[in-house]
Formats: sequence, C-alpha cells, structure tokens
Amino acid sequence: MKPATAYYLTLGCFCLAFYCGCTSCTFLESEHHPHTWKKLLLVHHWPVTVCKMNENDCKDPPQYWTIHGLWPEKVDDCNRTWHFDVNEIKDLLLNMRRYWPDVLHSSPNRTQFWKHEWEKHGTCAATLEALNSQKKYFGKTLDLYQKLDLNSYLLKVGIKPSTTYYQMTAIKEALTSVYGVTPKIQCLPPEEGEEVQTIGQIEFCFTRELELRNCTYSKVESYIMQNDWHFGPEELSICNDTLTYYPAQV
Ligand SMILES: *[C@@H]1O[C@H](CO)[C@@H](O)[C@H](O)[C@H]1NC(C)=O
Ligand SMILES: *[C@@H]1O[C@H](CO)[C@@H](O)[C@H](O)[C@H]1NC(C)=O
Ligand SMILES: *[C@@H]1O[C@H](CO)[C@@H](O)[C@H](O)[C@H]1NC(C)=O
Ligand SMILES: *[C@@H]1O[C@H](CO)[C@@H](O)[C@H](O)[C@H]1NC(C)=O
Repeated sequence: MKPATAYYLTLGCFCLAFYCGCTSCTFLESEHHPHTWKKLLLVHHWPVTVCKMNENDCKDPPQYWTIHGLWPEKVDDCNRTWHFDVNEIKDLLLNMRRYWPDVLHSSPNRTQFWKHEWEKHGTCAATLEALNSQKKYFGKTLDLYQKLDLNSYLLKVGIKPSTTYYQMTAIKEALTSVYGVTPKIQCLPPEEGEEVQTIGQIEFCFTRELELRNCTYSKVESYIMQNDWHFGPEELSICNDTLTYYPAQV
C-alpha cells in the first residue's frame, strides 16, 4: 500500500470515528433500536407563540398551554407500517380537540397533527406496554397533561401572559418548586431590534415508568430535539437566563 493511500485510509477511519462519536450517529443507531430510549418528554406549547412563528396560518389561538406531543428521546419513526387511525381514538376526541389542537390548522376535523405525532413519536413510545396502542398513547398523554395541570399551577404562582417581562430564572424556579423537577423551557430568540426572547415550549421529562424526572440534556441534544416541527425560518431553542416575554396575543 502506498503511503498516500494509507494516509487517506487512516484519515477516513478517524473521520468515521469522529462522526460516530457525535449525536447524529446515535440517531442512526437508535432508529434500529427503538427500545433503547430512556426518557419521555411531555411537550406543552404556548399557542400564541406558535402562531407568532407562523402568522399566516392561525387565528384565535387558545389562551392556555396545549399539548405538542409525548416524545421518546432520540428516536423517530420507529414503525413506518403502523399508520394513524383516528377511529382508534374516537372516545378521546373531545379532549384531543381541546388539549391537543392543531394550533396552526384549526378546523376541528384536521387530524394531520395527530397523525404526525403518532407516526414520528407514538410508534417509538409504543415499545412500552403502557403506550402500545394509539388509544393508550394519546389517552396516557392526555392523562399526564391533566395531572401536571400546568395552566393552573402557572396561574397559582402568578405567572400569566403579560406585557411586562419575566426573568427566565423566576419562571424556572417557580416550576421547579411546584413539580420538584426541572423542566426544559424553550423560547423564540429575540427578533432583530428586540431584546427579549418569547417563551414557546415547556417540556417535562418522564422515566420509562412514567414518573417525573429532571430534564437533563446536553447542548447538542437540545439542538437536535427542537427540530420537530418546521414552522419556517424561526426555531425554538433553550431559553437563556434573560428577560422573557409571555404574550397574550399574536
Ligand atoms: C409495526 O406495526 C405493525 C402494525 O401495527 C405490526 O404488525 C408490526 O408488528 C410492527 N412492527 C414492529 C417491528 O414492531
Ligand atoms: C367533522 O366531523 C364531524 C364528526 O365526526 C362531522 O359530523 C362533520 O360533518 C365533519 N365536518 C367536516 C367539515 O368534515
Ligand atoms: C441565547 O443566547 C445565544 C447566544 O447569545 C443565542 O445564540 C440564542 O439565540 C439565544 N437563545 C434564545 C432563545 O434567545
Ligand atoms: C431533580 O434535581 C434536583 C436538584 O438537582 C434534586 O434535588 C431532585 O431530587 C431531583 N429530582 C428527581 C425526581 O430526580
């Protein structure tokens, strides 16, 4: 073997090793091992902020935190042949429309959002017996949402939509003291010329036993997790400890 070939070969192996050390490789692996996830995220979003990110598509967003989804960490699309069927959740539709609305497409019969959540995340969550059907997955998510009762607790600790700004640390501390665990909070970064971020998502983490746990995450993980929905050019990211807008209206 010529030295040059050996050099490229070594370089190639090095690059491969480096590549596999990064998170994208964990993704590739976990696609084949849907059982390996350790954490579930119950993601709430603030409809007003969702609308702000995609102004064309919504009007009169709900004035309460709604469900975005229940996501096993780091796995996606675990069973592409298990299709969404709204008939399996017909007993849940009243609560689904109320607490898990498609904020961007508000016609009550739109089910694309639920289909997306099931196919991308539900099929992975379904490796747990407690979540192994569409009825269980959507039903359990609604249960967890209602048990957490985020809307009431935020009001109780005095955090409500306002034209004055909040310190992110105050919101974090209030939530941690209520729930005994640290949630993950995501914001829309300030627009040009603005100084404040806008709160958009609050995620609570659960173990495979569906017990609340602290959300611990690395910077890289949080970057990848946020790309669930492509609203357009703007994306949510982990909030900074700065002033934060919690808007009442679009
Ligand atoms: C995927 O889903 C289909 C339909 O529910 C099921 O028959 C099949 O066993 C699933 N495959 C795996 C690998 O779980
Ligand atoms: C929406 O669904 C309801 C109940 O399933 C049905 O009665 C109604 O006709 C549907 N509306 C449209 C526009 O499809
Ligand atoms: C947090 O600060 C970093 C660095 O200044 C910035 O890149 C990021 O967009 C900020 N995130 C938010 C949500 O404002
Ligand atoms: C979460 O973290 C806090 C502080 O780090 C710790 O006191 C608490 O026991 C943890 N809770 C759980 C459920 O692990």
